[in-house]
Amino acid sequence: MLIDTYGRVATDLRVSLTDRCNLRCTYCMPEEGLQWLAKPDLLTDDEIVRLIRIAVTDLGVTEVRFTGGEPLLRPGLVSIVERCAALTPRPEMSLTTNGIGLERTAAALRDAGLDRVNVSLDTLRPDVFQTMTRRKRHGDVMRGLAAAHSAGLTPVKVNAVLMPGLNDDEAPDLLAWALDNGYELRFIEQMPLDAQHGWQREGMITAGDILESLRTRFTLTAEGDDERGSAPAERWLVDGGPARVGVIASVTRPFCRACDRTRLTADGQVRTCLFAREESDLRGALRSGAPDEEVARLWRQAMWGKKAGSGLDDPSFLQPDRPMSAIGG
Ligand code: GTP
Ligand code: 5AD
Ligand code: SF4
Repeated sequence: MLIDTYGRVATDLRVSLTDRCNLRCTYCMPEEGLQWLAKPDLLTDDEIVRLIRIAVTDLGVTEVRFTGGEPLLRPGLVSIVERCAALTPRPEMSLTTNGIGLERTAAALRDAGLDRVNVSLDTLRPDVFQTMTRRKRHGDVMRGLAAAHSAGLTPVKVNAVLMPGLNDDEAPDLLAWALDNGYELRFIEQMPLDAQHGWQREGMITAGDILESLRTRFTLTAEGDDERGSAPAERWLVDGGPARVGVIASVTRPFCRACDRTRLTADGQVRTCLFAREESDLRGALRSGAPDEEVARLWRQAMWGKKAGSGLDDPSFLQPDRPMSAIGG
């Protein structure tokens, strides 16, 4: 079991498969991209599958989410999913992606055993998409979403970040569109995890702003806490349900007390939190021939150091050294 000193148990493993991305979202990375990890520093497919096997069979992990950067850029993705689906117990598997290339791979991912996907889409307007991501790929994302839905990677969730002056007027339109298409929409508060350190608390669009904007067109009824469990998203029934909308309010309504996550970076470091400043090296252990039990022990030890919260409200808060694309969203 991966338990921390506050009694939280991590059963949800988020695995970053690459730090690279084919978009350049302004709240994430600069136009020129970042200094990418070198190939030899990345975990190999075999190393990833081994770590997931240890997590699932020895450490009580029941859910695995593949993230990035953009995980569809990892050539071995389908085979990694297939090999993880053969583990006992079989973990629930999901993917967080920007949707580019999903049109081509959705069916293969489903056949390999992927259960569902979360796709990032901040705007319905191709021109705004281009401003926000610095790439002309809006159509690819829309087609990727449709392919995921028809391949049965459901519920398909859509993650949207609202940015002042860019898409902050779009919340009701995004919700109407998601309802029409059968996607579960969640809005995410912008977090201080961008490579450029441009995040500012003043001016960010809060959960409160988003709900106010949605209520101009929809009736929202809060879902009870019992339904939420450890999910980052607070959910509301839309116009009496059954459709829902979620808000992930990491900044204004942190949910660290119920956190059940452990993270693995693409270069094999355990992180206990998106905002942690410490990492524990599992790649080194793997490459120096450590047996499974030793790797499991190091992972347990890392989780023992997990902090109570993100520290965002601490006046001395410092952004983690690595940006979100390198940690894994
Ligand atoms: P499901 O609801 O199970 O589909 O998963 P999810 O919401 O955890 O997945 P997703 O990868 O789509 O994440 C959505 C947003 O939640 C991203 O912006 C994540 O960075 C954020 N998020 C996920 N886990 C954490 C966490 O441990 N702490 C914080 N603050 N944010 C998180
Ligand atoms: N703040 C909030 N969300 C972010 N994402 C990427 N960077 C940030 C940030 N700084 C979102 C992406 C994706 C999810 C994994 O995280 O849009 O939907
Ligand atoms: Fe790529 Fe996701 Fe960062 Fe956008 S937010 S640049 S899609 S890693």
